Amino acid sequence: MRVFNSIAREWDCSHRVPRGFLPLVLPRVRGVVLDAGCGNGCNEPALAGRARLVVGLDSSSELLQLAGVNCRELVAAGRVQFVAGDFRKLELVAWPAQFDSPNHRTPMNRTEPANHALKGAGSVGFLESGEGVFDCVLCLGAFHHLRSEAGRRAALRGFRRALKPGGRLCIVVWNRLQEKFSAKGRDAFVPWRGGVRRYYHFFTPGELAGLVKRAGFARVETLFEKAGAPSAGVGAHNLVLFAVKPRG
Ligand SMILES: C[S@@+](CC[C@H](N)C(=O)[O-])C[C@H]1O[C@@H](n2cnc3c(N)ncnc32)[C@H](O)[C@@H]1O
Repeated sequence: MRVFNSIAREWDCSHRVPRGFLPLVLPRVRGVVLDAGCGNGCNEPALAGRARLVVGLDSSSELLQLAGVNCRELVAAGRVQFVAGDFRKLELVAWPAQFDSPNHRTPMNRTEPANHALKGAGSVGFLESGEGVFDCVLCLGAFHHLRSEAGRRAALRGFRRALKPGGRLCIVVWNRLQEKFSAKGRDAFVPWRGGVRRYYHFFTPGELAGLVKRAGFARVETLFEKAGAPSAGVGAHNLVLFAVKPRG
């Protein structure tokens, strides 16, 4: 993603620790985790503390490279892997079936985007079984950058496919009800430090929950978050959605 490539170094300098919303997310994290839109990997150490394996995926090659450096010890220990890819295209990816085997290394890597690396890889993953390989899919501060409804629906189809039955989805987006966004519409460009403009879609809880329900998820719950705890709508920084892929 060009915008994030262009701010990657500055972003990395200012995002050295896990994001403030993570304490609300962490208790739901377990097993094999896909972190879609992982950025510079600032959340990975905390996620790896709860998960058996974290697979961080991002479309910014610059941020992925920094993530690899920031998390080199966890990568070397086999606790974290990073892959290049667009999370709107996960429906097309055949994930390796056995992420949790001790010697497993995904065939995807930074120079070989996920969506291309596994094209035609007929023998692995959930394309055959229809069941995913992840216990949790997280999309933290990234889903609101998708510009079209079609892209959001495609991402959710891919998240659902990537999850095992009973697997958990968590999406964190900025809270539209914050005072500083009150003058903005549903779609806005927000400058990064007065420079490049990043696209945001500002969701209401109802809009986000409706999309997720229509994508086939169950037990959809939305919370407002401030400083890592549930909060009232207006003062909250983020909207946090939890949902589950139904069994059967
Ligand atoms: C605001 S950053 C958040 C990074 C990290 N999740 C965090 O909490 O700090 C958004 C990230 O999503 C990534 N991203 C946006 N759209 C994406 C897409 N369609 N596929 C993969 N990554 C995407 C960007 O490259 C960027 O790294």
